[in-house]
Amino acid sequence: MGNSFAPARLPSTRGRARGTGQGMTKENIKTPRWGWALTGSGHFFKESLALMRQLPDLDVFLSSAAEEVLNMYKQELSFAEGTRLYKDRTASSVPVGNFYYGVYHTLVLGPATSNTVAKCVVGISDNLPTNVFAQAGKCRVHTIVFACDTAPEMDTEAPKGMVKVYPRRIDLENTAKLKTFEDTTVVETMDEFESAIKARVKWLKDTTGSYS
Ligand SMILES: Cc1cc2nc3c(=O)[nH]c(=O)nc-3n(C[C@H](O)[C@H](O)[C@H](O)COP(=O)(O)O)c2cc1C
Repeated sequence: MGNSFAPARLPSTRGRARGTGQGMTKENIKTPRWGWALTGSGHFFKESLALMRQLPDLDVFLSSAAEEVLNMYKQELSFAEGTRLYKDRTASSVPVGNFYYGVYHTLVLGPATSNTVAKCVVGISDNLPTNVFAQAGKCRVHTIVFACDTAPEMDTEAPKGMVKVYPRRIDLENTAKLKTFEDTTVVETMDEFESAIKARVKWLKDTTGSYS
């Protein structure tokens, strides 16, 4: 992917805060960030981490299952300098507060388990990834979802090697339903995933004119 994910240098978003609470303060955000929610999916997990490692100005939100799966696939939480990591340690998903203040230009949710996709589709937000998805929607932050369950028969990587899985009708229906969500791009393959992120980088460049 080369330099296509070079650092985004965006204008200050001062004044764009959407929070209405009295006395709320907002940090002066010089560089809006990528938000990336990781779930407990082994499907293209390593490849997704490789994409994440190319992004500057990144905040990572992990589900508890994602933390476990990281260990099972022997992967490190190593990202570009300045990346912030949020683990799922609070009942109210405290880190989602940043969505109200224009901190994020884009949320990426991927790979997204059938569990997470199902919850997103019915509007459940009871952990960090489902909460950032819900808050991105409510704050009109564009979201890219890489859904795991996209075909009736799939090859996927288990910790000990490749295996076949057969997503159920409900899983495929949920992926289809997610595609109808506003301001949400659902991708099904790694190529599409990479293209969607590149398209977002281009959008950032075109809209700010200051992308380097
Ligand atoms: C090694 C491993 C790989 C997994 N891969 C997947 C997967 O590709 N897709 C999926 O839907 N669930 C997968 N799971 C199951 C999820 O981790 C499990 O449903 C979990 O509750 C999801 O939680 P989350 O959606 O909050 O991350 C996997 C579990 C393990 C242990």
